[in-house]
Amino acid sequence: MKPVILLTGKNGQIGAELLQFLPQLGEVVALDRDHLDLSKPDDIRRAIREIRPQIIVNAAAYTAVDKAETDEAMAQAVNGEAPGVMAKEAKKIGAALVHYSTDYIFDGSKKMPYDETDAANPINVYGKTKFAGEQAIRDSGVPHLIFRTAWVYATRGRNFLLTILHLATEREELRIVSDQIGAPVCASDLAVATSKILAGICERNNGRFVFSEASGTYHMSAAGQTTWCDFAKAILEKAGATSRDLAWFATATRGRPLIARRVVPISTEEFRSPTHRPAYSVLSNSRLIQTFGVALPNWRTQLQRCFVSESINAILLSD
Ligand SMILES: NC(=O)c1ccc[n+]([C@@H]2O[C@H](COP(=O)([O-])OP(=O)(O)OC[C@H]3O[C@@H](n4cnc5c(N)ncnc54)[C@H](OP(=O)(O)O)[C@@H]3O)[C@@H](O)[C@H]2O)c1
Repeated sequence: MKPVILLTGKNGQIGAELLQFLPQLGEVVALDRDHLDLSKPDDIRRAIREIRPQIIVNAAAYTAVDKAETDEAMAQAVNGEAPGVMAKEAKKIGAALVHYSTDYIFDGSKKMPYDETDAANPINVYGKTKFAGEQAIRDSGVPHLIFRTAWVYATRGRNFLLTILHLATEREELRIVSDQIGAPVCASDLAVATSKILAGICERNNGRFVFSEASGTYHMSAAGQTTWCDFAKAILEKAGATSRDLAWFATATRGRPLIARRVVPISTEEFRSPTHRPAYSVLSNSRLIQTFGVALPNWRTQLQRCFVSESINAILLSD
């Protein structure tokens, strides 16, 4: 019998991509917010008791970083408390939990890639609530994989790639922050890496999701590093050379021509965001590679793939 996989956040950037790959590993029950609201702990407990998954993949989160500053109770309920409720309930029925977390649990003061042993010190509400969620999972004792990632984009949803393309149809000059460093990662690559890791675990354990000594926290991000400003330049370069018949691209630009001619670097201070963000967000993937033998490509390769084919997933699966 196929193992049952409960996936939350099925309409999110990562959740939607996971939905393309997880069915290869089991019977997926994918729920959106209308069917499971993570701010309601009793609903979480009830869903897990009814579905009785062998594994829960939690791709849902309160991700509105700026809004979280004034909506802390909801961000804490979804990011800080729900993962703990899931973890405890999963433990009771012998299930395992896969969860995503963020570079925002760090303060960004480091100058070289963060590894999993670096101390957390979140500098905004979103980061604090995400770290609380991680801790709740670890405290529960459930077998878990927490994948911390950063700077996620996709060809759908709300993200930097689509924002830049949209702005490029409206403005000749884009002013983009150049003093924050990170590694943009495509949601498809995260979904593929997650699926490969879970497939490997299943293979080694006669079709069961047994995490044993692999249970823990891992950084999962693109290789390399850049700034938001250079990422924007790379997006416009690719966009300038792309074929207009990519459906996602046509949607992002609403079929309009790109008029942006200049990308001007500005400082975080000039950008005047209401929220503090880490200046340095590069995560070291060494532990992920050593433990599971899974490495994500350089951020430029990932970006390039979005512009090559409608079906990034087909390319990734053939790798
Ligand atoms: N995006 C990034 O740059 C980034 C960086 C580092 C880590 N992460 C982490 O990666 C994971 C996935 O992020 P993502 O970029 O895929 O996020 P996303 O596109 O914003 O998707 C989040 C999903 O969570 C759902 N959700 C929000 N509140 C909910 C609630 N109360 N009950 C149930 N579902 C709820 C949303 O549902 P609706 O569609 O109904 O809103 C959405 O489908 C999260 O854990 C996030 O913290 C993201």
